[in-house]
Amino acid sequence: MKEDIKPATGRLGILIVGVGGAVATTFITGTLAARKGMVKAIGSISQLAKIKMADKKEKLIKDIVPLTDLNDIVFGGWDIFPDNAYEAAKCAEVLKENDLNLVREELESIKPITAAFDHNWAKRLNGTHIKQTASRWDMVEQIRQDIRNFKSANHCERIVVLWAASTEIYIPLSDEHQSLAALEKAMKENKTDVISPSMCYAYAALTEGAPFVMGAPNLCVDTPAMWELAEKTRMPIAGKDFKSGQTLMKTVLAPMFKTRMLGVSGWFSTNILGNRDGEVLDDPDNFKTKEVSKLSVIDNIFEPEKYPDLYGDVYHKVRINYYPPRKDNKEAWDNIDIFGWMGYPMEIKVNFLCRDSILAAPIALDLVLFSDLAMRAGMWGIQTWLSFFCKSPMHDNEHQPVHDLFTQWRMIKETIRSMVGEQSPGYLD
Ligand SMILES: NC(=O)c1ccc[n+]([C@@H]2O[C@H](COP(=O)([O-])OP(=O)(O)OC[C@H]3O[C@@H](n4cnc5c(N)ncnc54)[C@H](O)[C@@H]3O)[C@@H](O)[C@H]2O)c1
Repeated sequence: MKEDIKPATGRLGILIVGVGGAVATTFITGTLAARKGMVKAIGSISQLAKIKMADKKEKLIKDIVPLTDLNDIVFGGWDIFPDNAYEAAKCAEVLKENDLNLVREELESIKPITAAFDHNWAKRLNGTHIKQTASRWDMVEQIRQDIRNFKSANHCERIVVLWAASTEIYIPLSDEHQSLAALEKAMKENKTDVISPSMCYAYAALTEGAPFVMGAPNLCVDTPAMWELAEKTRMPIAGKDFKSGQTLMKTVLAPMFKTRMLGVSGWFSTNILGNRDGEVLDDPDNFKTKEVSKLSVIDNIFEPEKYPDLYGDVYHKVRINYYPPRKDNKEAWDNIDIFGWMGYPMEIKVNFLCRDSILAAPIALDLVLFSDLAMRAGMWGIQTWLSFFCKSPMHDNEHQPVHDLFTQWRMIKETIRSMVGEQSPGYLD
């Protein structure tokens, strides 16, 4: 019920891991410009979307639930490079200088805190702005202190921590991730091969009373140990991997084939990408993390065990090719081999010339604002209703992830309505 949601008073600090990256600087610049009324928050559900209420009238989400106002946001974060957000945004080459100049002074005032980093987890990166740490536990302690310092220096009432840093190498779930006690022990014993820097940021955020959002496909909070910590601290966790371009298309097209009972024999997806994210993903260990995230989508939607004649033998391949000339302007191609009546084959080609960070920035804003809302509404643990924004929606061991974009959208609408004690207005919603 709405009366139970704490109001969004005071300032919200958004601390971004990877604050000098392409997504982070695009997110920050757009938000600062939007709150001055210079641009519209295009692509943001929290700012623009309307939901039908029980009386069949449509209302903006932000008029239904108490979201933090953009004017009350303060940005900060960590990066392995010391450049302020203006310099970093210029390097990222996503936004034009004219657009950066709209909020130049504010961007220049955002200076990254030294990063908790381990080269073995992102071998293509060589930064200099890095903490000296004696162990993973010490890493956690230093990040916790950073959060406390930022909160008091900026007079923030609440903090949300968002991972928009590079994708870490792939690691499978191991014993150290199975319980909070095992995780803490491994941090204290400095087991650097199973405890990633992102786990230290997440642990620090949750224990400092801040929700944690994972924008990359890292294992990080997707473990029983972190679910236990989220429960203990009563903090929301959300993720993982922003669903920005190619996978967004997949989670729209696949439900269409399934609803029409059309068969699929193959789905080949390839990308060219030339930004720093593409460079990190050029390392096979880092690409593996992304590949697992991108591959999980269609099986879940098609349910081949229920429809073996249609989806029992889908050849699904995903490639990402680092190609510097394109920078952040990713080009994605999908070739989908489908079949219809009497088994006759057909082909669909999708060529999406997108801008990665332009698509990801509003997702970052929505994930942060909704996680903050969830905290004030007393909703802790995995926020499955935020699956809409994620390529690899997190779920516990008792549930399946939901990938279909329209089912995900319904989950958001139902959750927002139930927060204020309302129900769906009917089957045409
Ligand atoms: N852009 C998209 O559409 C999209 C979609 C899904 C996921 N993602 C993920 O979002 C993340 C950010 O993407 P991007 O394009 O901004 O990449 P980027 O390379 O431009 O930015 C990442 C930033 O993180 C910093 N960094 C790396 N490790 C760090 C650490 N341990 N601590 C602090 N900073 C660290 C880097 O220095 C860099 O500035 C990537 O993991 C990417 O895979 C992006």
